[in-house]
Amino acid sequence: MSRLPIAILISGRGTNMRVIAERAAAGSLPVDVRVVVSDKSSAEGLQAAAAMKITTRVLEGRQFADRPSYDRALIGLLAQYQPKLIVLAGFMRILTPQFIEAFAGRILNVHPSLLPKYPGLHTHRRALEAGEAVHGVSVHFVTEQLDGGPVVLQAEVPVLPGDTEKTLSARVQQGEHRIYPQAIDWFARG
Ligand code: GAR
Repeated sequence: MSRLPIAILISGRGTNMRVIAERAAAGSLPVDVRVVVSDKSSAEGLQAAAAMKITTRVLEGRQFADRPSYDRALIGLLAQYQPKLIVLAGFMRILTPQFIEAFAGRILNVHPSLLPKYPGLHTHRRALEAGEAVHGVSVHFVTEQLDGGPVVLQAEVPVLPGDTEKTLSARVQQGEHRIYPQAIDWFARG
């Protein structure tokens, strides 16, 4: 089976990126990670990607006057790698309608809540404050509505007595690492 060319966008640790790239390298996920792009040169995930011999690029947000000019540059950068799917993996920027239009139906995101609950930031803290018994993670297609595009797959995790943001987010991340490769696999297989 031919491998789908993808680009992975990160801002931080890049643990989701790592799981996806490892699965691709092992041949258990039919994708070719053409490039890993970060909006922060300090993102830990960049080193992990480089260690896996994946091309990395940095496009710092502060070098651009506004969101549209950043996204134009990002579209131009990505065009060099011809990805058929854009994988947002902890990429902490809001994308413009122009970017979303350029890759319409071809952008996936992982969001740390059971959407439509808790779009936006600080999802674990908000779930704890609300006294939720169940929390989780969603993989969804990206549309112009922030964290509002069609959900592909979700994983639930229990909220346990004594949980903190840290313990809860670690449990949610285990779910992310399970369902994000699965959703990408489905996309790659059509
Ligand atoms: C993940 O928990 C992901 O759900 C979250 O960022 C983290 C990135 O982790 N994404 C968002 O909050 C998007 N709004 P990673 O860098 O270790 O993959």
